[in-house]
Amino acid sequence: MSKNTVLTLVGSLRAGSTNLQLAEAIQLNAPEQVDVIIHESLGNIPFYNEDLDIEGQVPAAAAALRAAANDADTILLVTPEHNGTVPASLKNAIDWLSRPFGAGALAGKPTAVVGTAFGQFGGVWAQDEARKAVGIAGAQVLEDVKLAVPGSMVRFAEVHPKDDAEVVEQIKGVFDALAAARTAEAA
Ligand SMILES: Cc1cc2nc3c(=O)[nH]c(=O)nc-3n(C[C@H](O)[C@H](O)[C@H](O)COP(=O)(O)O)c2cc1C
Repeated sequence: MSKNTVLTLVGSLRAGSTNLQLAEAIQLNAPEQVDVIIHESLGNIPFYNEDLDIEGQVPAAAAALRAAANDADTILLVTPEHNGTVPASLKNAIDWLSRPFGAGALAGKPTAVVGTAFGQFGGVWAQDEARKAVGIAGAQVLEDVKLAVPGSMVRFAEVHPKDDAEVVEQIKGVFDALAAARTAEAA
């Protein structure tokens, strides 16, 4: 059976990002048949600009993002919350993936959102906004995939999420929900 490829896009540019660490924990806990790829930093992608979005001339980092998303079976956004919404770098990636209109890499693509943030709700506002944006971009939003870990910087100050038993258990729940969505899609 061919592997299911999950492309993770991390909504923080920090080297010490707890969301990058969460993506690493997700990668480490992936079931045998799932291949989790962590996309390189979204910080190299220019702000979306229709003047730059010319066929054959798309900036390399944006073209690489589109190619990676096209190749993936599923997109997983792993994001903190910035001022109650999606960090600009992740929103920019969503904008690049939403075009060409109606034929962007997100069109029809199963897409889920998880993450960790410092606030007591773990960034659920940002997650909801990300789901809204990718849905408008045409993605098949996997609403049942949920993971929002509060207290990011404190909780993961000394302990990497891969070594946090509760988080690892929740990650298993994420993969169960992803598998259930695949089964429902195939039925
Ligand atoms: C500009 C900025 C705005 C933030 N706004 C929020 C917020 O609205 N809600 C929240 O829970 N945390 C907020 N935080 C805290 C982040 O959730 C926290 O720093 C998180 O760990 C960042 O993710 P990272 O560790 O992956 O970089 C904000 C942080 C920054 C830098």
